[in-house]
Amino acid sequence: MAKVAIVGAGVIGLGWAKLFARGGWDVALADPRPDLDQIVHDELAGLSVTAYPEAGAAADGADYVQEAGPERLEFKHELFAELAAATADGVVLASSSSSLLPTQIAQGCSAADRILIGHPFNPADLMPLVEVVPGEQTSTAAMDRAMQVYGDLGKTPIRLQREIPGFVGNRLQKVFNDQSIYLVQQGIIAAKDLDDLVKASLGLRWATVGPFEGMNLGGGPAGIRHLMENVGSQMTFEIGSPDKSKMGMIVQEVDNAYGNGEQNYEQGVTARDDKTRKILHALDEN
Ligand SMILES: NC(=O)c1ccc[n+]([C@@H]2O[C@H](COP(=O)([O-])OP(=O)(O)OC[C@H]3O[C@@H](n4cnc5c(N)ncnc54)[C@H](O)[C@@H]3O)[C@@H](O)[C@H]2O)c1
Repeated sequence: MAKVAIVGAGVIGLGWAKLFARGGWDVALADPRPDLDQIVHDELAGLSVTAYPEAGAAADGADYVQEAGPERLEFKHELFAELAAATADGVVLASSSSSLLPTQIAQGCSAADRILIGHPFNPADLMPLVEVVPGEQTSTAAMDRAMQVYGDLGKTPIRLQREIPGFVGNRLQKVFNDQSIYLVQQGIIAAKDLDDLVKASLGLRWATVGPFEGMNLGGGPAGIRHLMENVGSQMTFEIGSPDKSKMGMIVQEVDNAYGNGEQNYEQGVTARDDKTRKILHALDEN
């Protein structure tokens, strides 16, 4: 059985552990957290997962490494030096990082050609996307291998041609979130109404067609050319940006609408994951 070392057993690492184990991999899960054995017992019951307190020991003999530790550059530098030393040439060292660039992570590392980003969307075991991002020194062989591994796991791996802060998914999300905050701050719409608006329109649309496919269909039989000449030509307004000094009102409004706390979080995650599974299932049937 192929062995994957997953480094970090937080929100993202546990998602990866479920995904790889269900995909037939032997998982070595590394995290110094004192409750790791308990977590493996409770949350990964019945899966082929072994707990390790140290990353190097977990990575020994691994065929693939998926890192999901804390988002600090100095930490990743030390960790990737350890992972490079513990693994054979050719073994991909993939970081889940959302904000660090692969070239930054690989700086000074002897295995820079094997380091890349395999960036999931939360929850990592359910969301199909993995952005596969090369650094300046990443080899084509490492990129090909990562694409193959994520594809075989049933994910939708998307290969970026080169790195850029935020990659693609989070850059798009930032534009959308900033505009959402701006509209609520301006008193145009309540936060919860904006959520309902998105779920009833763009969210549903984008589960079936992407922005460009949507633009092409939006133009009718003449496609995107017609859309750009017609409706698109009138969309010339400035969209504004959030007022950073008024973020407190957003926090308060979202808090009032949805609440917080452990129990509330568990209910929210369960409802989100159930709906996501149902949508994926429905899309699979087509
Ligand atoms: N949370 C998200 O939505 C999200 C989405 C995509 C990518 N990411 C990325 O995934 C990575 C992990 O994020 P997270 O949200 O799971 O963080 P998290 O804080 O939930 O988990 C990090 C885990 O790393 C562990 N850790 C600390 N030192 C370690 C060491 N020496 N060896 C092994 N494990 C160690 C911690 O104990 C913790 O359990 C980050 O790089 C983040 O940018 C997060």
